[in-house]
Amino acid sequence: MTFAEYNNATLQAPDPGQIARRLERWFARHQRPLPWRNGYDPYHVWVSEVMLQQTRMEVVLPYFERFVARFPTLQALAGATEQEVLAAWSGLGYYRRAKMLRAGAIEVVARFGGTVPSTVDELLTIPGIGRYTAGAIASVAWNRHAPIVDGNVARIVSRLFAIEHSLGTPALMNAAWQRATELVDACKTPRAFNQGLMEVGALVCKPRNPSCLLCPVANDCVARATGRAGELPRPKVKAETRELSIALYLITDRKGRVLMRRESGPLMNAMYHLPHGDTSLLTGSPLAAARGELLGTFRHTVTTRRIEFSVYAGAVKQHPRGEYAWIDPEALHDVPHPSYVRKALRWLP
Ligand code: ADE
Repeated sequence: MTFAEYNNATLQAPDPGQIARRLERWFARHQRPLPWRNGYDPYHVWVSEVMLQQTRMEVVLPYFERFVARFPTLQALAGATEQEVLAAWSGLGYYRRAKMLRAGAIEVVARFGGTVPSTVDELLTIPGIGRYTAGAIASVAWNRHAPIVDGNVARIVSRLFAIEHSLGTPALMNAAWQRATELVDACKTPRAFNQGLMEVGALVCKPRNPSCLLCPVANDCVARATGRAGELPRPKVKAETRELSIALYLITDRKGRVLMRRESGPLMNAMYHLPHGDTSLLTGSPLAAARGELLGTFRHTVTTRRIEFSVYAGAVKQHPRGEYAWIDPEALHDVPHPSYVRKALRWLP
């Protein structure tokens, strides 16, 4: 029996109450001093959570300080113009967040008398507030037993409970929300527990090389007990690559222009392609391609397709109409075209 197998065989299911107590205690001692942690003003917590959704903590801190100095209360934010709010957000990016925050503040003034609601159900009725932000405001600002899952939390719970789903899958997020709910239900102080979970996720249980020696819940962690802390959550599954062979036809007129065809469809995006394939070209089309004249082949990879292109010389039987166009190769940059086209033009006479 290997060490990992021995551990597996003797492993106890992690105890949510014990994990919660350890994270709460750890948070009390090791939390970072952050401005919204002084008094937990719900408006401040809301602003911080929106800023932190797509931006790192070091970048957020000075913006947060300036933003709440400029708009000290929810009423001040609700009374500001969109332009004033966007000006204070300038440089943080993802400006939709700022617009939604202002719209949310206006709604809270109109429907909740200016007090940020304390329940997830009420919070979810406010524009711009989704499941994560609602859970964060309910638990961090109001100390309610509401779960939250962000990327850090998904990672730490997937290790604690050895969740086998891959990153980026709904299955992983569903399992993480379920575990986060069990944990927060078992805790005493949701404000400390949820922030402890996020903080350990950000500072200790890092994506690569987790610092298990510093982790308050290392002894509760199934991934650690089985030697897989660095392997979970499983990486995103890459789509399988497909191998394709496609024939291309290089057809030129007397002026040296190349025949191309504008194609549209979900993937084509109205780009100009070289006549290709074995389908319409050789039967019932205005084109004729002498299949014998193979000029050359090249390989080309687009997202999940590995394509071998064979370039043939072709000719026109009658003047092509419709989506066809004669393109001067010197002016190719004026015409939207996929990158394989340039590779194929190497075989122009
Ligand atoms: N990341 C987002 N919100 C956070 C919070 N309240 N504490 C720690 N990290 C966070």
